[in-house]
This record gives sequence, structure tokens and C-alpha cells, in this order.
Amino acid sequence: MAPNVKSAKKVFVFLGKSVFSLLETMIFTLIPKPRKSVAGEIVLITGAGSGLGRLLALKFARLGAVLVLWDINKEGNEETCNMARDAGATRAYAYTCDCGRKEEVYRVADQVKKEVGDISILINNAGIVTGKRFLDCPDELIEKAFDVNFKAHLWTYKAFLPAMIANSHGHLVCISSSAGLFGVNGLADYCASKFAGYGFAESIFFELFAQKINGIKTTIVCPFFINTGMFEGCTTGCPSLLPILEPEYVVRKIVDAILQEKVYLCIPKFIYILMVLKSILPTKLILLIGDYVGAFHFMDGFVGKKKN
Ligand SMILES: NC(=O)c1ccc[n+]([C@@H]2O[C@H](COP(=O)([O-])OP(=O)(O)OC[C@H]3O[C@@H](n4cnc5c(N)ncnc54)[C@H](O)[C@@H]3O)[C@@H](O)[C@H]2O)c1
Repeated sequence: MAPNVKSAKKVFVFLGKSVFSLLETMIFTLIPKPRKSVAGEIVLITGAGSGLGRLLALKFARLGAVLVLWDINKEGNEETCNMARDAGATRAYAYTCDCGRKEEVYRVADQVKKEVGDISILINNAGIVTGKRFLDCPDELIEKAFDVNFKAHLWTYKAFLPAMIANSHGHLVCISSSAGLFGVNGLADYCASKFAGYGFAESIFFELFAQKINGIKTTIVCPFFINTGMFEGCTTGCPSLLPILEPEYVVRKIVDAILQEKVYLCIPKFIYILMVLKSILPTKLILLIGDYVGAFHFMDGFVGKKKN
């Protein structure tokens, strides 16, 4: 085929597919996208011992999924497991695992594969926060934030993605944060680890697309502060646009996004607008907007979780 005919064909295919995608998006903004069933799917949730992880476990229990719950906190995790059974989970398994330790992730992953089976929905949710200005952050806490908030995602993907590829079926869920999209005063190590988690999940999404592996879905979640205790004491300067979120609401949105196979989820919607503004406005204006929404003082009253 002549090179100009080939490039004209490429342009037509690109335009055709783009129009189709836009139409599909428009239709699904008017009518809700159908939700897939997760009954019988084996769902692994890291950090299931409290907060979002616990609520996600209860939601998936009600949807008929098999639950594999990981947490460093044995007591909290077993409590979630019992709550999930009470909520209707026929099979729920609690494993104590420090997700920040690669060897432990691999060891517990092997145990899960033998005792439960291949994971089909992987939710990387475990997270920690230092909550200090960068120069006050002890090195070991910075390293720990990266180990738990980011590197754990690498090791869990290494452990569970091969079987998803072999089965051409799976769903990878990354609980990042709005702090994975914007830098925040007083959260440098946390932001960096959350940006890394976001970048990693998005890269694997593109890697799977490039290899035409269509059966594995990706969902990347970026919520603003949530009332789980992790950011106890933090405040918002603009509650109408950036409210402190209720965990039940966030979890409902996350589960909906997973069932509808949505790739990106920012909560609240104002985060999407901030992302566009950050890309197009001059820096001075961005600083003014940041000041208006209280972004430079979110962390001023930070107390954090009293007990893990
Ligand atoms: N709370 C917020 O404001 C907020 C906002 C955006 C994103 N997030 C993210 O949502 C996720 C859940 O946070 P949450 O608010 O439910 O907090 P949370 O503290 O209630 O839950 C985190 C869970 O992770 C577990 N965990 C901590 N270190 C671990 C480790 N090394 N190995 C295994 N488990 C470990 C904890 O025991 C806990 O059960 C985190 O990734 C967090 O960064 C939270």
C-alpha cells in the first residue's frame, strides 16, 4: 500500500474510533453504564482492617464476592472478616501481611493462591501518612510511606497479574489520592508515594492496552480528605467545593466505578476542574486558587490516627 494511502487509512480509523468513543461517553453520561457482576470473583483488599478497606470488604461481601483481606493489624482485619461473614460473605479469609515488605507480600500471596485461588480483583488500598514537613520527616518514615503506599503495588501486581493475564480476566484497583495529583504543603512524602502509585497503575493500564490484553480492567481512585481518622485534625478551606468526605459515600463511588469499569475516579468532581486549571493557568493564578481553597493550610491541625 502506498505510504499516503496508508496514512490516510490510519487517520480515518483514528477519527472513526474517536467519534465512536465520544458517542459512547455521551450515551453513558445520559444513561448509567451497566454494572458487572462480581459474584464469585476473588477480591483481595489490602488495608482491610479499618477505614475504606473495611467498608469495601462489606460492600463486596454483599455483592457475593469471595474476600481475601490483608492488613498488618491482625485484630482489625479479623474483625472485618467476621463483619463480612455477618454481611453475607460465604467465603472470607483474613491474612496478616505487612504490605511494605516485599518478601512478606510474596509469601502471603503464595499462601493465598494455594488456599483460596487466583485473585481476580486486586484493590491496593493500604496506606500510611507521616504528616510532617519534609525536613522533619525521619528517613525511615519516608521509606515506609513509599514501601506501603507505592512499592506494595509493584509486588502485588508481580504476584497476581500473571494469572490475570493467563485467564484474560481481572481488575486492578489503585487507591491513590487527590494528593497523587497535586502537591500538598506538609505531605511531600505522602504525595510523592501517591503520585508514584498513580503513575504505576496508569502505566500498567497502557502496557496492557498496548499488548491488546483486553480482559484486565483498571480503576484509579483519587479522593480528597475522608473522615476515616487517617487525616484527623485536617481541615478544608472551601467546604462547598472540597468537602471532607464521608467514607460510606466514597466507598459507594469506588464500588460503582469498579462495577462500571471506570478507569479514573476523582472525588469530589471539583478535583477534575482543578486538574484542568493546573494545566492551563499561569502559576501565580494557581497559587491564588490554592490559597482560596485553603490548600496551603490543609495539614495545619493534623493529628493523624491515634492507634493503628
Ligand atoms: N483518609 C483520607 O483522607 C484519604 C484520602 C485519599 C486517599 N486515601 C487513601 O485511602 C486508603 C485507605 O485509607 P483510610 O482512610 O481507610 O485509612 P485507614 O488508616 O483507616 O486504613 C488504612 C489501613 O491500612 C493498614 N495498613 C497500614 N500499613 C500497612 C501495612 N504495612 N501493611 C498492610 N496494611 C497496612 C492499616 O492497618 C489500616 O487498616 C489509603 O491508601 C489512603 O492513602 C485516604
